[in-house]
Amino acid sequence: MEALVLEKKDVLNLRNIELPEILGPHDVRIAIRTVGICGSDVHYYTHGAIGQFIVREPMVLGHEAAGVIVETGSEVANLKVGDRVCMEPGIPDPNSRATQLGIYNLDPAVRFWATPPIHGVLRPTVVHPAAFTFKLPDNVSMAEGAMVEPVAVGMHAATKAKIKPGDVAIVSGAGPIGMVTALAALAGGCSQIIMTDVQQPKLDLAATLGPITPVNVAKESLKGVVDQLTDGWGADIVFECSGNEKAAASVFEPLCPAAPSSTSAFRYTQSPMKYRPAW
Ligand SMILES: NC(=O)c1ccc[n+]([C@@H]2O[C@H](COP(=O)([O-])OP(=O)(O)OC[C@H]3O[C@@H](n4cnc5c(N)ncnc54)[C@H](O)[C@@H]3O)[C@@H](O)[C@H]2O)c1
Ligand SMILES: [Zn+2]
Repeated sequence: MEALVLEKKDVLNLRNIELPEILGPHDVRIAIRTVGICGSDVHYYTHGAIGQFIVREPMVLGHEAAGVIVETGSEVANLKVGDRVCMEPGIPDPNSRATQLGIYNLDPAVRFWATPPIHGVLRPTVVHPAAFTFKLPDNVSMAEGAMVEPVAVGMHAATKAKIKPGDVAIVSGAGPIGMVTALAALAGGCSQIIMTDVQQPKLDLAATLGPITPVNVAKESLKGVVDQLTDGWGADIVFECSGNEKAAASVFEPLCPAAPSSTSAFRYTQSPMKYRPAW
């Protein structure tokens, strides 16, 4: 089939590649319609690696996807041909300790699309477990369906932060992950978000999404704005979504005394961090 193949760092080809896939009894075959380009796809292209995951052989990119079911396995009862779906890109070992504990995303054996050596889904079709395939409501577009995976990152961060009604949260970084985290935090009960970035157009967009106060940290002091908005008390939660070392190193500064949590949404960085990300 024709797919977008990362041959190695800096070399991408749209070309034929053999990807034989057998449909098991609990699987569905999905015709891919829309795929989001994640920062990790770009990072594999520009750096050839993320941490210990190194592109050693040609790999199809893409893991944020939506499509239409074209075939179902003999045991699949909850999905049918023609269903519009989105997919969880990480398939864990169902027998692992992490899966049994209900934290399958932390299974060390998880097979995640477009993470070497697992091929991604910038290609015409994919076979996937029905249990990790989710029907889209009719009013959700394919593009929105492809965004469900990054939205889930924000939802997960908001859930981990144990938000209480009225909490004030800082979201550092107004990229896609910062935006979905801010929306999830508001949906989860935060009364307002203080959002930082160094790029004004992103902050201007963020300010249109709800009760979000933008702070351009290249020009303004975050602590100053937080103190002003919270009568000097500090914010309840910080979501670190910039991946920037300087921002990550100062997550504790604007927090209120006894702040319950500081949740970070970053996954990879080039240098060691001094605290553990919450995913
Ligand atoms: N946990 C997960 O599953 C997961 C998934 C996707 C991405 N991520 C991570 O989340 C982070 C954000 O991803 P993204 O796709 O939104 O990236 P992005 O690069 O689009 O956005 C990051 C934003 O941070 C801003 N920024 C840079 N320096 C800053 C500073 N000092 N203070 C505040 N903001 C600053 C940038 O201008 C940019 O707008 C990355 O580190 C990425 O690796 C995690
Ligand atoms: Zn992604």
